[in-house]
Amino acid sequence: MPLSSRHLLGLQGVPKEDINLILDTAKTFREVLERPIKRVPTLQGKTVINLFYESSTRTRISFELAEKRLSADAVNFSVSTSSVSKGETLKDTIRNIEAMKVDMVVVRHPAAGTPLFLTKVCDSNIINAGDGAHEHPTQALLDMYSIKEKLGKLEGVKVCMVGDIAHSRVALSNIFGLKAVGAEVSVCGPSTMIPKNIEELGVKVIYDIDEAIRENDVLNVLRIQLERKAREYFPSIREYAAFFGITEERLEKVGKEDILILHPGPINRGVELSSGVADGLKQIILTQVTNGVAVRMAVLYLLGTMN
Ligand code: CP
Repeated sequence: MPLSSRHLLGLQGVPKEDINLILDTAKTFREVLERPIKRVPTLQGKTVINLFYESSTRTRISFELAEKRLSADAVNFSVSTSSVSKGETLKDTIRNIEAMKVDMVVVRHPAAGTPLFLTKVCDSNIINAGDGAHEHPTQALLDMYSIKEKLGKLEGVKVCMVGDIAHSRVALSNIFGLKAVGAEVSVCGPSTMIPKNIEELGVKVIYDIDEAIRENDVLNVLRIQLERKAREYFPSIREYAAFFGITEERLEKVGKEDILILHPGPINRGVELSSGVADGLKQIILTQVTNGVAVRMAVLYLLGTMN
C-alpha cells in the first residue's frame, strides 16, 4: 500500500499504517547503510532540492546523504547565497527552482505553515524538515524508529517529552506520531513552557522531573532554544538546569536503572543534559542520527515513487 499523502507536512492526522510503513521501510534502508557501498538505484533520475531557510547540521546533511544513497540528484539551496537576499519571494523562488524540473522539495523555514504553502504553489512532493514551532515530522519518525529498535515496540511504551514543549516542533510531531501508534505520552517542563490545554492532545502533564524519570521508559529531552528567547520563560539557565536538567546524580537518586534517553540535538551541554548523561550508556543520541538517514531514505523513496 502506498502512503495516503504525496507530501509529508507533519504527523498530525497521519494514520498509523503510514507511520508503520515508513518505519518498516526504514529498516530495509538501515541495512543498506551498513554495506561497504551505501547506495541503491531506487531514485535514479529524480531531483531533490534541499531548501533550507534556517540553520541545520543534522537534518540538512541527513537528507542530502539519504538522497545520494538513493541515487537521486541532490541540490542544496542556501538563503545567504541566493536571490532571497535581493528580495525574491518564496513563491517566486520555488517556481523558478521548479522550472528547472525538480521532483521533490525538502524545506526548513522559520515560518510555520511554509511546507503547506509550497503545496499550493508547486507540483513537487513537499517534505517538511522543520517549520517554525509547528512540526518536524522526520525527527519524530527517527525518534520513534530508534525507540522501537531499542525497546522492540512502540505500543504501550511510556515516553516523556522534557523541556520547552510550547516552542518545540519536535515535541508536537512526537506527540502526534507516538499517540497514533499507541504509545503513552507525557510532557514535563516549567509551567511557562507547557502549552495550555495540551492534555486535549491526550498527553499527561508532569511538572516534577523526578516523577517523569520514575514513571517513563523513555525521556526525549528537548533543546532549550536560546536563540528563540527561551531565557524569558525561566529565571536563569542555572535554575533550569537545577530543576529540569538530566544528570547522572539525578538518575541515580531516582533509582531508575533502565531509562532510555533521546535528544534531537544540538545539545546545550550542562543545561538539558550533563555531559556524563549526553555521553553515557543510557542515551542513544548518535544512534538517532544514524537512523535518521534511513528514515529519510524511506520517506523520500515512498513519496518519490508515488508520482
Ligand atoms: N535535530 C535537528 O533538527 O537538528 P538540526 O537543526 O541540526 O537539523
